[in-house]
Amino acid sequence: MLVNATEMLKKAKAEGYAVGQFNINNLEWTKAVLLTAEECKSPVILGVSEGAGKYMAGYTTVAAMVKAMINELNITVPVALHLDHGSYEGAKKCIDAGFSSIMFDGSHYPIEENVAKTKELVELAHSLGISVEAEVGSIGGEEDGVIGKGEVADANECKMIADLGIDFLAAGIGNIHGKYPANWQGLDFEALEAIKNATEGMPLVLHGGTGIPADMIQKAISLGVAKINVNTECQLSFAAATREYIEAGKDQQGKGYDPRKLLLPGFEAIKATVKEKMELFGSVGKA
Ligand code: 13P
Repeated sequence: MLVNATEMLKKAKAEGYAVGQFNINNLEWTKAVLLTAEECKSPVILGVSEGAGKYMAGYTTVAAMVKAMINELNITVPVALHLDHGSYEGAKKCIDAGFSSIMFDGSHYPIEENVAKTKELVELAHSLGISVEAEVGSIGGEEDGVIGKGEVADANECKMIADLGIDFLAAGIGNIHGKYPANWQGLDFEALEAIKNATEGMPLVLHGGTGIPADMIQKAISLGVAKINVNTECQLSFAAATREYIEAGKDQQGKGYDPRKLLLPGFEAIKATVKEKMELFGSVGKA
């Protein structure tokens, strides 16, 4: 069932768990995430970066594929189709294309401009029942060309953006896209607590979910995080399983080169990663 992400995240925050956003890249990725969510009876958010949207032949292609797949695979759990780190123009395109949720990442603008653009997109999206995520501070590292310095969000600026009526807020708290470096200082829980207090009931979003230790995930959830984004970890699992298949020469045995066989270990590996995260985030059985 395609829905916006508002209700699922309000429920997650109220009940003390988080819903995973898993970024998708193609048909195999989408099918793996949807089937795992259904098996786990978990709500789920499919994240689409602007780069992945382009790769998959545009947002309308993605929306049509996701809607058809939900129908054909009899997916009954709540599914949100969400733009990840969208530009102003990208957010408008996804609203037109039939996404149920958007993220406008105005964190690189001065706060006044972030406020003005977020406000405009909230009005447009909400008039169509689409949920909105905004960002303050930045997520370190790089994702699909979106590069962030990793500034920790200012609680007052978070309040300014939260007061615009957004549905959930991404705040930089020392989190990074991609693998964490060995000298990573960990999440800034003091900043998270200040943001939680400044934004009251707002569900918070933790980007850079790959490689965050379980105890930090749990603490973040206890401090108001209700959505956790995972991208790189599924890519690493897919790549490792595919490598193993090819290195074992299985693509050269019988019809092992058939893409339905060649991509199967990677597909199963994504499913295992998604299930592991849903268990860690506490969303299993919450659909
Ligand atoms: P990772 O790639 O580090 O899991 O981050 C995903 C993310 O935050 C998507 O916005």
